[in-house]
Amino acid sequence: MIDNDCPFFKNGELSQRCVMTKRSFTINGSPSSFDVPDGRTLLELLREDAGLTGTKQGCDMGTCGSCTVLRDGQPILACLTLVASVEGREIVTVEGLAEQCPKGQALQEAFGKCGAAQCGACTPGMLMSSSALLLRAPKPSRVEIAEALAGNLCRCTGYGPIFDAVEVASGTREPPENPIVNIRAPEMSDGSAVYGDDLHLSGTLVGKILRSPHAHARILSIDTSVALTLPGVRAVVTIADFKKGEDGRAIRYGIIPWAGDETALAEGEVVFVGQEVVAVAADDEATALTALNLIVVEYEVLPHVVDALQALKPGAPLVHTLDPRKGCPLRNNVFKEVILPDFGDVDGAFARSDVVIEEDTFVYPGSNHVAIETHSATAFWDKDGLRLFSSTQVPHYLRLTAGLVMGEPIERVRVTQTKTGGGFGGKSDIGPFEMIVCLLSKLAGAPVKITLTREEVFYLHRGRHTTVIKMRIAVDHEGNVVGVESDVVLDGGAFASFGPITPYYLLQLLGGPVKIGAYRARSVRVYTNKPPQGPKRGHGTPQPRFAFEMLLDRASRRLGIDPMEIRRQGAIASGEFTVNGFPVPSSGILECLKKVEQASSWHLRDRLPPGYGLGVAVGMYISGTAGAIHGSDDDDQSNVAIRMEADGTLVVSTQASEIGQGIDTMLAVLASDVTEVPRDRIRVITGDTALGPKDLGAYSSRGTIMLGTACVRAGEAFVKARTSGEELPNVTGTFMTITPERDPRVEGYRGDMIGASPTYSMTAYVALVHVDGETGVVTVKKIWVAHDCGRAVNPDAVHGQVQGCASMADSEARFECLTYDEEMGLPHQPHLLGHLITTALDAPNVVSFIVETEDHMSPHGAKEAGEGPLLPGPPAIGNAILAAIGTAPTELPFTPERVLEALDRLNKEGR
Ligand code: FES
Ligand code: FES
Repeated sequence: MIDNDCPFFKNGELSQRCVMTKRSFTINGSPSSFDVPDGRTLLELLREDAGLTGTKQGCDMGTCGSCTVLRDGQPILACLTLVASVEGREIVTVEGLAEQCPKGQALQEAFGKCGAAQCGACTPGMLMSSSALLLRAPKPSRVEIAEALAGNLCRCTGYGPIFDAVEVASGTREPPENPIVNIRAPEMSDGSAVYGDDLHLSGTLVGKILRSPHAHARILSIDTSVALTLPGVRAVVTIADFKKGEDGRAIRYGIIPWAGDETALAEGEVVFVGQEVVAVAADDEATALTALNLIVVEYEVLPHVVDALQALKPGAPLVHTLDPRKGCPLRNNVFKEVILPDFGDVDGAFARSDVVIEEDTFVYPGSNHVAIETHSATAFWDKDGLRLFSSTQVPHYLRLTAGLVMGEPIERVRVTQTKTGGGFGGKSDIGPFEMIVCLLSKLAGAPVKITLTREEVFYLHRGRHTTVIKMRIAVDHEGNVVGVESDVVLDGGAFASFGPITPYYLLQLLGGPVKIGAYRARSVRVYTNKPPQGPKRGHGTPQPRFAFEMLLDRASRRLGIDPMEIRRQGAIASGEFTVNGFPVPSSGILECLKKVEQASSWHLRDRLPPGYGLGVAVGMYISGTAGAIHGSDDDDQSNVAIRMEADGTLVVSTQASEIGQGIDTMLAVLASDVTEVPRDRIRVITGDTALGPKDLGAYSSRGTIMLGTACVRAGEAFVKARTSGEELPNVTGTFMTITPERDPRVEGYRGDMIGASPTYSMTAYVALVHVDGETGVVTVKKIWVAHDCGRAVNPDAVHGQVQGCASMADSEARFECLTYDEEMGLPHQPHLLGHLITTALDAPNVVSFIVETEDHMSPHGAKEAGEGPLLPGPPAIGNAILAAIGTAPTELPFTPERVLEALDRLNKEGR
């Protein structure tokens, strides 16, 4: 029966029916011939046979553009192109760009100067499409550039810097003056950067994962016997092969150690479609996939629930039959409920206020990070223990977890972060594939690599929680917000991820930059039979900000107060405290508001043509968390080592994680500032647990302040050592976890420490939209965003982060939404044709401003810039819609249907 089902497996052997044909063509100017089987794509050939890994694979269906190469000067998608179709043709990849294309080198340099490559995952494809454009249109207009790049997705830049770079290369724009060029720009632009899937160690096997077809089912049996006999299969693992804990179950782990509820493969039952059940390592991909087909898993299907509100109802199906952490029966689907103590007299505030904007329900949908590089990990074992390479944001936590799950002392675990093509929080959790690849490698006795497909990224997920917010606000006649009450339901998916943190972030960080007099809040995170939800840029804070800022505009309309003024009047000032007692060391929110007010000609907002509207919103975000996830109060959060080599090179090393946010360049800038060693004499090493001292990784916007502080301190120690006569100093700087002993202000925190941060960034955002009253289509014409980042260590990088945030905010406001089939529990859109993000054609024009404030919480005075600027985006666009048509949907994204429904309601009910 199995033989009939499997086209490659006949009589116990892999069939050799593939016909090999010699194909000859030119690659980067060199005549080349390869024996290739029918069906081989150009992308497979370039990456696997020709070793040209500069061409990337961001999807497998022609949706991302990262595989773009030139065929006879025309851009083509290598993932959709059969090798047979390039016979006799000339192929140019990013590795040959500088030599083969007239404007190739100019483009590469311009991408560096304009900050057009952040993580660099889209960069090769962007460069190839751009070079083709410049071949046919040497002086393209901005519109022509956008059209030429419409098929190339970038998740980092918001496209503006890429357009600028193309203009600079074409000579229609002057290059920026004295930019601080990302120190990784050359390797991102010439294809030499080694991302996760680009790593190929000799003898590496391919790992593949068999996933659950059910949203909830008991596993009755797993039969891997036939798969194990398939030639080329080197290892097959189920959860039975993983180490057990004291309770006899497989070891539980999680990014938040006290809430660890995951296992690398399903144990006993599956709880969402796509959950990992069995894994295989084989000589090649075809064999691994064939082996998956030969594994028989018997399930008993159980009831499931994929909607958080349904999951809370009495009698709802239980997402897990047993508590995944403790193994005892679950009574309901509540993962965590947080009820903050009342801050101030909430009931009195609502009773005495002049205006109460009554409770409304806001829905902020789930969405995926859509980093253009999909996740990839490679593991092998040698006499020193486990080597694990991964495109992770958290090498330190990954090392701890791999040691725990493999039962290996962490001294024998070394994690190396490969060049990471974007994260946005999606690579800050521990992925089951990272644990699976370790065990497969151990059993197979060879390196094993697992690279997730784009579809599998949606099953790993850890993206934005779908959130339902009920909120009401009370405002006095002067526009002061005297009371806020909110009740929030978070859809958490089937496992914890960062779940114990999210409900706190959601509640605790609403206290600024608009001051609140009294505050009551509750949130509940709910298990559902969906992939785990986790931290996406802004982690838990864009959702309440969306509700609050939209209610605030309703209040301003009711009171006849300018929406800009109501925010100005309530602006938190440096040295003040939020309603829940968080001290705000510095606040530049008034300056931010001034910038966007002037730049947007806000005073003319009432004279815009029909259908146009300007909307404003503000936000505040943490710069790192006071405490560490793993460890105690005595722990260090960041360390940077600096040493001088004999040839005068200054080596700056740390385990911190560069994911496109620019910390490698920040370290070079800070180290150079303090030591006065020129930047081109500095070598930065990050992301390897054996080559640098401990840092907790890239999450919670902690890098600039914590890592930056450690770097400054190391630099100062270096200078001191040099001054006292040491020729080749070797020193370390440290940033410790914040405790009351180290910072007495921590005593003042009320509520909970989760959400407490050394300091907070501030952002103001104005959006200009057009709403088509006939079709409901919202077009975002322009965005002005001003961000207070303390001192801008690298202004070019700050602008890049701010514009990237603004773009992602626009994308969430208008496009992004993950939905699931209730009947089957299947995601509707596990691909980029369904999970839409902003393209070069949709990208609004974003103008960013940096506001610098004096902040004394770090020696260099910096605050974050990589997440906070996203927060005000969706409500600013919502408020602009409100200004344009007198109403706005309360559910994101602002689809044409929702806009038309809102208009209909306005016409029928007057609201
Ligand atoms: S990999 Fe070819 S378009 Fe995405
Ligand atoms: S720089 Fe474009 S995806 Fe990261």
